[in-house]
Amino acid sequence: MTVSSTLHILAADEVLSQLRALRATQPVNYRAFYSSQLGGIVTDPALMVIPFDDHMVHRGHGIFDTAGLVDGKIYDLEAHLDRFLLSAERSKLRLPCSRAEMRDIIIKTTAASGRREGSIRYWLSSGPGSLDLTPAKGAEPGFFVMIFDGLVYPDRWYTKGLKVMTTTYPIKAPLYAITKATNYLPNVLMQMEAKEAGFDNGVFVDAEGNVGESSNMNVAFVTPGRVFVHPRFKNILAGCTSLRLLELARTLVDQGGLAGVEVRDISMAEARRSREMALLGSSVKVAPVVQWDADTIGDGKPGPVSKALLRLLDEDMRSGDRLIPVPY
Ligand SMILES: Cc1ncc(COP(=O)(O)O)c(C=O)c1O
Repeated sequence: MTVSSTLHILAADEVLSQLRALRATQPVNYRAFYSSQLGGIVTDPALMVIPFDDHMVHRGHGIFDTAGLVDGKIYDLEAHLDRFLLSAERSKLRLPCSRAEMRDIIIKTTAASGRREGSIRYWLSSGPGSLDLTPAKGAEPGFFVMIFDGLVYPDRWYTKGLKVMTTTYPIKAPLYAITKATNYLPNVLMQMEAKEAGFDNGVFVDAEGNVGESSNMNVAFVTPGRVFVHPRFKNILAGCTSLRLLELARTLVDQGGLAGVEVRDISMAEARRSREMALLGSSVKVAPVVQWDADTIGDGKPGPVSKALLRLLDEDMRSGDRLIPVPY
């Protein structure tokens, strides 16, 4: 940051050119942005802004969700909208319009982006109007939709597997973990801590010593007896990917690759003895974990179940029955 000795009051056109200059120094892959506050869609990243006094900015009173865009189709949007509405209710956030209208805005913003691959993230905010805690008098909730290229993970995660560490940061209290609010401080700190220590990501453990989740992903395991096990969703976010994979994994049971599928508490001790461990999520899909702290998971290589689940998920994302074609 350069601080000029003569700070002056900026005119509107100077603000715009500063916002553009900021984007020029740090190119971003945001393709289209809808804002209920702007009343439309913008494609210039310099214009993708939100008032500073929106309570989502200065108090974290906001929620979000992210759906995938694969080959011109939106994947599993209804599941993501279900969770979005649940998060809104738990956060006491009013909706700006009906679910059908929100879905329509999401689809139209995606079409405006022209992109066929990427991610769709949308937020609901408590709105602007004060620096107080409770929503400002007369505040309208804000609804925002961003179409961007999506988070990209190294190929190595899938070919060689990744390394995770048990975080030293406490897991969120259950209400905050099951609500997808914009308060991701523990998640951010966990990921930073892991990277600083030479790992790829961290894992939260709950007060009873059971496995929780990772930064923005769930975790699941394959037991020595070939059962696909996933932690219960009482202390962690109910990942749309996890819920879908728990269904898709049944195919592997039918084919004999798995002995069963279970959702239950998993102690750290049990988890470390797994044949396979994987991170699951909309952006990471299914990424095999081969090391947890100093312990090797399984034989230290990505396992067959993780690979098979990734294949099944990829297929479901391209040709399953949960796709909405984007009307470009
Ligand atoms: C904390 C947390 N857990 C799990 C997930 C995985 O959820 P999904 O599969 O819906 O992407 C996410 C991502 O949204 C997350 O932020």
